Amino acid sequence: MILLLGASGYVGEAFVAELNRRKLAFTPLSRREVDYSRFDVLLNFLRVRKPTFVINAAGYIGKPNVDACENAKAETLLGNVVLPVTIAHACQEAGVPWGHVSTGCIYNGAKIRDDAGQWCLELELNKPEVRELFLRSPERFKGYSEDEVPNFSFRHPPCSFHNGTKVLAEEAIAGVGQNYIWRLRIPFDEIDSPRNALTKLQKYPKVYENLNSFSHRGDFVRACLDLWERRADFGIYNVTNPGAISTRQIVEKIERLLKPARPFEFFADDNQFYTAGVKAPRSNCILDTTKLLAAGVQMRTVDEAFESAFQGWRVAVA
Ligand SMILES: NC(=O)c1ccc[n+]([C@@H]2O[C@H](COP(=O)([O-])OP(=O)(O)OC[C@H]3O[C@@H](n4cnc5c(N)ncnc54)[C@H](OP(=O)(O)O)[C@@H]3O)[C@@H](O)[C@H]2O)c1
Repeated sequence: MILLLGASGYVGEAFVAELNRRKLAFTPLSRREVDYSRFDVLLNFLRVRKPTFVINAAGYIGKPNVDACENAKAETLLGNVVLPVTIAHACQEAGVPWGHVSTGCIYNGAKIRDDAGQWCLELELNKPEVRELFLRSPERFKGYSEDEVPNFSFRHPPCSFHNGTKVLAEEAIAGVGQNYIWRLRIPFDEIDSPRNALTKLQKYPKVYENLNSFSHRGDFVRACLDLWERRADFGIYNVTNPGAISTRQIVEKIERLLKPARPFEFFADDNQFYTAGVKAPRSNCILDTTKLLAAGVQMRTVDEAFESAFQGWRVAVA
């Protein structure tokens, strides 16, 4: 039996769907039934029910977006640091391997190959010349790999409070027992929902141009479970659809496939974006997925995943 923590959440519900699809026995647990945030309660549950694997899809995510975490620091620390540390130690004590949903929003920038063939770090992916180069030569862009130290964290400010806590958790649970750290980045899929990045993008009065890696929610949970089912090495994995995509490229797909009633407006620059009411700094980055692919896990490219999300676009059925 697989134990699923945080099954009621946006990421958790995608795990529920995929576990059902695979016909894997699992127990979804909510804090309402069993307060798994308490070490003694969780350890006892693990000892009695003996799951073969634990998935932690629980955590504190600001709603409607990460800005909310800036005003809820204690809750953010409890949900994103104390909780995973508790789970790590309980799982270690009970000898149960587990997987933790982290975030890929812990870097800024990407590596760009210059004309001499050298990889150079570029922190600002929304500079016009960088965006133009990406459109012409996407192969000259390389993302951060798992062994690179996050540069959007409390140790490397500025960062948002939410993302700072996610990095702290990664540090605190690494090597405590056997675990996967699965990095999810800006989840989207075909289901219109306030949590879907594509719904958000269509609702903003103005959008922010940048270049990013993304994770299709269904592809993400499939890849996480594939890692476990293949018994891939434990450790950190960037679980994003390979490649990157700019906001303008996504908007072009929306205009072509969904035919929105109103045209998209873009912020002129970072300054306008950050003075328009946004509280926390945002991470814009590309992640490298070589490690995931080398473990034998298939992911559609980010372009394929976006095309299929818009082609299958639908309203959620309650
Ligand atoms: N959604 C995103 O954009 C995104 C992006 C990257 C990473 N992530 C990570 O993915 C994980 C899940 O995110 P989500 O979007 O699915 O969140 P969510 O919809 O808010 O669900 C999280 C679930 O976690 C459980 N939980 C346990 N302790 C909690 C606490 N202290 N505060 C709040 N909830 C707590 C709750 O379930 P019960 O109370 O029923 O147990 C809740 O339903 C988080 O760790 C988040 O950082 C999310």
